[in-house]
Amino acid sequence: MLDVLIVFSHPDGEKSINALILQNFLCGLKQNKSSYTVLDLYADNFNPTFSYNELRNGALSAEIRKYHKIILNHKKMVFIYPAWNYGMPAMLKGWIDRVLVIPGFSFQEDAKHRYLGGLLTHEKVLLFQTFGGDFDGEKRKQLNHYFDPICAVLNYCGLTDITLKSFFGLYNISSQPKHKIIKKIQDDCCNFGATF
Ligand SMILES: Cc1cc2nc3c(=O)[nH]c(=O)nc-3n(C[C@H](O)[C@H](O)[C@H](O)COP(=O)(O)O)c2cc1C
Repeated sequence: MLDVLIVFSHPDGEKSINALILQNFLCGLKQNKSSYTVLDLYADNFNPTFSYNELRNGALSAEIRKYHKIILNHKKMVFIYPAWNYGMPAMLKGWIDRVLVIPGFSFQEDAKHRYLGGLLTHEKVLLFQTFGGDFDGEKRKQLNHYFDPICAVLNYCGLTDITLKSFFGLYNISSQPKHKIIKKIQDDCCNFGATF
């Protein structure tokens, strides 16, 4: 079994701030000699569309079963994604719908589809979210649901130890490598990796 599974959901795996987060988190993991796998959903050309066949037939494709094997082969999970229109990218939402939240895999239900409990047992989950907006404390409170888009579904799957790390105010700074926000992101993500 490996230590950390990272689900990366950003179309620019090289120059985005999300890519910077991934690189620095991996640096930290390497310092800590943690083993890991990166699932880069865009690079994988993952299809996030839940199809009619999938909905009605319910049979799991080889692709979905491959992802399940990978998920179960890790002790911890990390998600890296930007806030897009008050939520996560459709790519990640599709992965959650098609891969993660599957009865018998991540949660149990009875014959009448009543929820019986989560099945995943990963030790902990870390969510890195990035925001263009720079929200102050009060506004953040009013928009709480906005900052917590996937915790409920992770809880549903049995995952309760979840840390949310959000980076704000990122509009127009990706081209400024020496910006102090960038430096802080690099340091924070490396530290998270080294201690996760
Ligand atoms: C389609 C789209 C929708 C976005 N929606 C939001 C949003 O609702 N709130 C916000 O703060 N930033 C929003 N942004 C800005 C991104 O969150 C921001 O550019 C990103 O977090 C910066 O990281 P990146 O360089 O890795 O893309 C949006 C960006 C895009 C492309």
